[in-house]
Amino acid sequence: MSIRISATDWAPGGLSEEDLLALARAFKEAGVDLVDVSTGQVVPQQKPVYGRMYQTPFADKVRNEIGLATMAVGNITSADQVNTIVVSGRADLVALARPHLADPYFTLRAAAWYQHSGQFWPKPYLQGRDQAYRLAVRDREEWTAGRQATKPPSHEVKEEKAKDERAAKSGGGPGKKAA
Ligand SMILES: Cc1cc2nc3c(=O)[nH]c(=O)nc-3n(C[C@H](O)[C@H](O)[C@H](O)COP(=O)(O)O)c2cc1C
Repeated sequence: MSIRISATDWAPGGLSEEDLLALARAFKEAGVDLVDVSTGQVVPQQKPVYGRMYQTPFADKVRNEIGLATMAVGNITSADQVNTIVVSGRADLVALARPHLADPYFTLRAAAWYQHSGQFWPKPYLQGRDQAYRLAVRDREEWTAGRQATKPPSHEVKEEKAKDERAAKSGGGPGKKAA
């Protein structure tokens, strides 16, 4: 059994974090298996704090403080964000609404990008699937090369360079300790 709750009303006098935890605990005791954690949209004077994945901290709280499985929702717009939320243990499931209105094949594209073989594709789509999976291999290679090319040097690399410069200034060669 799954239910949706509003974790906060984003308004003084409305549902608070304390209420959220009490509510989640009560639902857990009543046998609820999973909570879809949403917020707000109940009073006009609400002051929500929007941003990417803005409701996920509430799903995280219910999951990790009450020990109840959660579904995160709200301004989650990329497959990368979905995976990050699940892998980091902030929610058990992720639901996307508006991204599917702009791109109904969001999930199929993500499956191709990650080369996920378990994704169902309707039979008439299979040629499209094969092409998408082939192109995704190339796109990922290009994307990875682009990231590598523009990656700033790590702290270790910078520190090595600084050491070499200090050594060179004081008479030692690169990588050698100054005498
Ligand atoms: C067209 C549309 C209809 C929606 N209808 C409902 C609804 O009936 N009940 C509800 O709780 N949320 C509804 N929502 C909110 C979504 O479930 C979701 O919480 C919200 O859109 C934020 O997620 P998103 O950023 O992925 O769109 C609706 C959203 C959209 C775009």
